[in-house]
Amino acid sequence: MKQHIEVLDYAETILKAVKRGVLLTTAADGKVNTMAISWGTLGIEWGRLLFTTFVRTGRFTRELLDKNGEFTVNIPMQDSDLSLIGKCGTCSGRDVDKFKQFGLTPENGEQVTVPGIREYPLTLECRVIYRQEQDKSAMLAEVIEECYPQNVGSENWGANCDVHITFVGEIVNTFIISR
Ligand SMILES: Cc1cc2nc3c(=O)[nH]c(=O)nc-3n(C[C@H](O)[C@H](O)[C@H](O)COP(=O)(O)O)c2cc1C
Repeated sequence: MKQHIEVLDYAETILKAVKRGVLLTTAADGKVNTMAISWGTLGIEWGRLLFTTFVRTGRFTRELLDKNGEFTVNIPMQDSDLSLIGKCGTCSGRDVDKFKQFGLTPENGEQVTVPGIREYPLTLECRVIYRQEQDKSAMLAEVIEECYPQNVGSENWGANCDVHITFVGEIVNTFIISR
């Protein structure tokens, strides 16, 4: 069952959860994948409610997002197992089926083709309405030093060579999955 909610009523919950880590789920070519994110913003532009996510170019997630511009953001609630963030944030969907490996249960979406995750029930369904590769020449030097030191390659979860792509998702539906 899904309880539909107003996303702004949960803004504080969502942003506090993002700071700790949430999941970003994507799907294309018959594959569903999820990864941890702890950078993301909730906001408004073009008169639409947006969730913006920042994905390094080397991630498998980036490939899936390029093929299917829909995603879900999966936010833990009281009983959720927070160790899933570390698990889904340190291996790639190129090598493992994280849903099988970590016992995640997909929950069919309503407005997008990408599922939610029952274990992380607060769900934002989003479709990408803008994407842009970030330009290091427009960044503050201290951010470049901190976030792009160029000593960990793209294939690692802690990669720091690749820039991020900004994917701006319009939030088209928000619900809590109840068991
Ligand atoms: C707590 C946490 C937060 C993370 N946040 C981000 C993020 O915001 N953007 C990003 O590109 N990678 C982030 N990562 C790294 C990805 O989750 C990680 O590289 C993952 O293995 C990529 O999976 P994929 O190759 O299946 O897409 C984070 C990892 C952790 C553990």
